[in-house]
This record gives sequence, structure tokens and C-alpha cells, in this order.
Amino acid sequence: MTPAGSLLHASALRKAYGTTPALDGADFSLHAGEVVAVMGPSGSGKSTLLHCLAGIIGPDSGTVHYGNRELTAMSDAERSALRRADFGFVFQFGQLVPELTCLENVALPLRLTGAKRKEAEARSLEWLERLEVDTVAAKRPGEVSGGQGQRVAVARALAGTPRVVFADEPTGALDSLNGERVMTLLTEASRATSAAVVLVTHEARVAAYSDREVVVRDGVAREMVGAV
Ligand SMILES: Nc1ncnc2c1ncn2[C@@H]1O[C@H](COP(=O)(O)OP(=O)(O)OP(=O)(O)O)[C@@H](O)[C@H]1O
Ligand SMILES: [Mg+2]
Repeated sequence: MTPAGSLLHASALRKAYGTTPALDGADFSLHAGEVVAVMGPSGSGKSTLLHCLAGIIGPDSGTVHYGNRELTAMSDAERSALRRADFGFVFQFGQLVPELTCLENVALPLRLTGAKRKEAEARSLEWLERLEVDTVAAKRPGEVSGGQGQRVAVARALAGTPRVVFADEPTGALDSLNGERVMTLLTEASRATSAAVVLVTHEARVAAYSDREVVVRDGVAREMVGAV
């Protein structure tokens, strides 16, 4: 079970790639609706932690609970069903399907969970409007700017009204102005839908958008002390 009040809880996660330790006893807790920034040096284990929390990879040992369910004890099929129903994802780049239009990209996860095309596309268009990129709805990802593409990716992550959004350096490939705008839109939209966010970032300024900061060092996650 997760401790009272927390939605997602990881305990003593360990993961090694061959002889390289990536996680070395990491604990992590997330409350419903909370925005948590995950920071730390390159190679410290941030992406590995996020992938374990989201059930994309399994740790070598340790547990991840989501509500009263243990993610680390589920079958692959159960985990993918949970991911599709309850989680949204935004990565640094390369996540949009190049053959589909931006609108179809946003609609794709909705279609996969059974929504009818018309309904999925109407809802997707609303999300593109909210992220201020409805003008690129009919374009393919290769025909839009980096910032527009990331906003489309945020729209796609949020369109399924997930309870948790996992974002791994969603603005890492953008200039600071575009990055800031994407960050504002991501956190505003998440707060509006009460989605919790786990946000991996190198940007110290992201503190302004988060409720809490966690720093990962050498595969161990610690609460940032003195953070406002
Ligand atoms: N697929 C993999 N195969 C082998 N080693 C890996 C793999 N993924 C990560 N690692 C190693 O595990 C450690 C943690 O990597 P991870 O990607 O979690 O770091 P990170 O904090 O996200 O870094 P960055 O800020 O550069 O994205 C590193 O030493 C990395 O080299
Ligand atoms: Mg990483």
C-alpha cells in the first residue's frame, strides 16, 4: 500500500545496467495533483527513476505502488493497460508519430483506449487550442517548430486526462523562451485537470512551477532541503 495521502510510492529501488548502478536504493513519493521537479547531474539516475515509476522498466529490486496496487508485481499487460488509462508522457523529442498529423497524434492515445474518431479528434482539437497550437493541427510533426511539437506532445499527454504525467526534460531541446512557455502550459494544464506531474529537468528555474523538488545523486533521491 502507498502511505496515506500518496498516489505513487517507490521504495528502495535498485537498478543496474550490467555493472553500472543506475538506482541505488531510491525512494520516491507523489501526492495526487502535485507537481514534483526531479533534478540532479547527468547520469545520476533521473530517467531510470522516472521509467521505473511509470512502469516502463522494472527495477532489479524494490517496489512501486500506485494507489493500492503494486506496479512492480503486475504483468506486462496489466502495466501497459494502467499506463494507457492513468498516465501521460512527454519526452525530450522524437515522441510524435511522423506519419500522422498533429491532431491525429493527440487523438492516438484516446483512440487506443476506445474513443470514436470524431469524439477523439474534437477533444484533441480542444487540447491543441489550450496549448495554443491549434493552427498546426493539420501539419505533420516534421513541419512544425520544436516548441510547437512539444506543445502538441503536452496536449497528447493530457488529452486522456491522466492522473499522473511523466515528463523527461520536455523542454531540453528548446530555447529558454519556448521552454518556459511549454513549462507554463504543461503545469497550468496539469493543475487545471488535477493531474500530478513528475518533471525531470536540468532547469533550476523550473522550481517556480513545482510544489516540491527532489534531487537524484548516484541513484539515490533526496528531498531538496531549503526549497520554497
Ligand atoms: N539502457 C542503458 N544501458 C546501459 N546503461 C544505462 C542505460 N540507461 C542508463 N544507463 C546508465 O545508468 C545511469 C543512470 O542513467 P539515467 O539515464 O537514469 O541518468 P539521468 O540522470 O537521466 O541522466 P541525463 O541527465 O543525462 O538524462 C548512467 O550511468 C547511465 O549511463
Ligand atoms: Mg535522463
